[in-house]
Amino acid sequence: MSKKILITGGAGFIGSHVVRLFVTRYPDYQIHNLDALTYAGNLANLSDIENAPNYQFIKGDITDRQFIDGLFAGNLYDGVIHLAAESHVDRSISDPMAFVNTNVTGTVNLLNAALKSWKNDPEGRRFYHVSTDEVYGELHDPEDFFREDTAYDPRSPYSASKAASDHFVRAYHNTFGLPVVISNCSNNYGPNHFPEKLIPLMINNILNNRPLPVYGKGENIRDWLYVIDHARAIDIIFHKGGNGETYNIGGENEWKNIDLVNLLCRLMDEKLGRPEGTSAQLITYVTDRAGHDLRYAIDATKLRSRLGWAPSVNFEEGLARTVEWYLSNQAWLEGVTSGNYQSYYEQMYGKR
Ligand code: NAD
Ligand code: TYD
Repeated sequence: MSKKILITGGAGFIGSHVVRLFVTRYPDYQIHNLDALTYAGNLANLSDIENAPNYQFIKGDITDRQFIDGLFAGNLYDGVIHLAAESHVDRSISDPMAFVNTNVTGTVNLLNAALKSWKNDPEGRRFYHVSTDEVYGELHDPEDFFREDTAYDPRSPYSASKAASDHFVRAYHNTFGLPVVISNCSNNYGPNHFPEKLIPLMINNILNNRPLPVYGKGENIRDWLYVIDHARAIDIIFHKGGNGETYNIGGENEWKNIDLVNLLCRLMDEKLGRPEGTSAQLITYVTDRAGHDLRYAIDATKLRSRLGWAPSVNFEEGLARTVEWYLSNQAWLEGVTSGNYQSYYEQMYGKR
C-alpha cells in the first residue's frame, strides 16, 4: 500500500541509510527527506538515489515552527521517521543550547504539527522517534545491560536533550493519543559517518598520519552496530512495532575504545601496506571527556524475539566494509573536513 513518509535528518549518517532503504525497498512510498543541512548533513550521501521518482529533498529546519506547520498543512503524511538531531556529545559540552533547540524544541514542533494534521484521522499513522541508548546513562556492572524498562539517567547535555525528546514523544502519546513508537540504539558505525565520531575520526587521522586522540585511558566501552542493521531495524519497527512501544537496538558487540583503536590501526596498516605497528604509534592519550560515560550495552531481546530482527553483518565484516568505504571515498572525507570545519580535537588542541 502506498504511503507518504517524512524522514527528518535524512542527509545525515543514519538518516541517509534509512532514506536509501525506504526509497529502494518501497517504490510505492513517497519519501520526503527534510534536513537543514547543518555541518553533519550532506546530500552527497544520497547522490545514488537523488533522482528516484519516489524521493524528494526538502531543505528546512525543525526548530522553525511556522515552516514545520506549513509543511504538514501541505502534506498529509502517513508516517514520520524523526532522526534530525544534534548528535555529538563533545559538541553538546561546548554548546548545550543547540541541543535543546534542535533535539527538544525541534521534536516538539514536529509532534505538534503531526498531532494537528492527524487529529481527525490518526488511524494507521505513526510518529517514529529515533533515539539513543545514552538516555539510560552509564553501566558499571559487566553483567548489566540497558533494557526498555531501565530508568532514564542521562549524563551529558546530548543525552539529556534526547531523553527530554523521548519524554515528550511519550507524553504526546499518553496525553493526546498520538500514535508513536520509539527506539533506542547503541553506537552505529559504517559508511558516511561524520569524521568527528570515534571510528571515522581514527580512520581519517590514520590516513593523514595525524595523532589518534584517545580520551582518558581508553577504557570506556561502547556497543557497536553496523548502520545498515540499524536502518533494517527501523524499517521493521516502523511497520510492525506496537503503538506506544519502545524497542532497544544493539549489536551485542562491546569494545573498549583502546582495543577498537588498536584493531583499526592494524586493519589500516594492512590496507595501506604500511609495516605493522605504524599507525599504533599515532595513538595519543588526551584529557578525558567531561562526564565521560563508562559503558553502554544493550539488551535487544524484545526486538529480536517480538519482531524477529537480528543483525545481518558481524563486526569483522562491518568494520572491513567501513574501512574499504573510507579508502574508496577519500574525496567525501576531504569534502566534509575542508573549509572552516574543525574537529573537536583541533578546537581543543590545535591543528597538528
Ligand atoms: P548526524 O549528526 O550524522 O545527522 C543529523 C542530521 O540531522 C544531519 O543531516 C543534519 O543536517 C540534520 N539536522 C540537524 N539539525 C537539524 C534541524 N534543526 N533541522 C533539520 N535537520 C537538522 O546524526 P546521526 O548519527 O545520523 O544520528 C541520527 C539520529 O539517530 C539522531 O537522532 C541520533 O540521536 C540517533 N542515534 C544516533 C546514533 C549514532 O551512533 N550515531 C545511535 C543511536 C541513535
Ligand atoms: P563517539 O563516537 O563520540 O560516540 P559517543 O560518545 O556518543 O559514544 O565516542 C565513542 C567513544 O570514543 C567514547 O567513549 C568517546 C571516545 N572518543 C575518543 O576516545 N576519542 C575521540 O576522538 C572521540 C571522538 C571519541
